[in-house]
Amino acid sequence: MRGAWPSGRLSVMRVTVLGASGRTGIHVVRLLRGRGHQVRAGLRSRRRAEQVAGLGAETVVADVTADADDLVEALAGSEVVISAIGAPDPDQASVDLVDRDGVMTAIRAAEKAGVSRFVQLSAQFADSPDQGDRLVRSILMAKQISDSVLRRSSLNWTIVRPGTLTDDQPTGHVKIAGHLEPGRVSRADVAAVLVATLEEPLAENQGFDVIGGEIPIPSALASLG
Ligand SMILES: NC(=O)c1ccc[n+]([C@@H]2O[C@H](COP(=O)([O-])OP(=O)(O)OC[C@H]3O[C@@H](n4cnc5c(N)ncnc54)[C@H](OP(=O)(O)O)[C@@H]3O)[C@@H](O)[C@H]2O)c1
Repeated sequence: MRGAWPSGRLSVMRVTVLGASGRTGIHVVRLLRGRGHQVRAGLRSRRRAEQVAGLGAETVVADVTADADDLVEALAGSEVVISAIGAPDPDQASVDLVDRDGVMTAIRAAEKAGVSRFVQLSAQFADSPDQGDRLVRSILMAKQISDSVLRRSSLNWTIVRPGTLTDDQPTGHVKIAGHLEPGRVSRADVAAVLVATLEEPLAENQGFDVIGGEIPIPSALASLG
């Protein structure tokens, strides 16, 4: 699929969003639908289906800590997976189960299901946890491992590492680079970056930081290389 969506020309894609009921995931679903993509909203549990009701997305149960074969089935037919998953609790066991092992299971399931592209919502300093905030170091270490599994996978990958997330209104403007100073960025803008990576070939097989900034998202992504 590499190079299948040149800049500026929109191809409709079949995309599964993992963690679709989350505060970032729901923005991702909405934005993908707005771009005309076919969206499957992956839910940890059917109980969260009301979160995505009315957005025009198919729903599927996709618990990354449950049966791996079920996950392969949930991802089958998708060209792209965007993972916006995050552990429900910050304790080490939960983070290791979801952000490390669960995301690794999702990556393997995506490979088995014939998915081409995997876009991972990681975190700033996940590639250097010892430089990150001590309070979130266990999350950073878990993501460091799953991010490296994704980089070494057979998938076409993108790893987006945002700073501290806020629920501020979207601005459509960010700052993106391989590594940036610590910062904050809204979940809505991060979701827009995740979705925009699908239209920017330079974002393929790349990991980068994103914080709030002044550069329109497509231009910020186009500066990668
Ligand atoms: N908070 C920050 O400042 C910050 C900074 C940088 C990066 N991040 C990362 O950004 C990501 C998204 O953050 P957020 O605040 O949008 O998260 P969130 O609102 O807590 O949403 C997390 C999503 O993950 C789902 N989930 C949890 N366990 C799952 C499992 N076993 N299988 C499938 N789905 C599962 C949740 O499902 P339910 O709705 O069923 O619970 C929910 O949809 C996280 O990975 C987080 O670590 C956060």
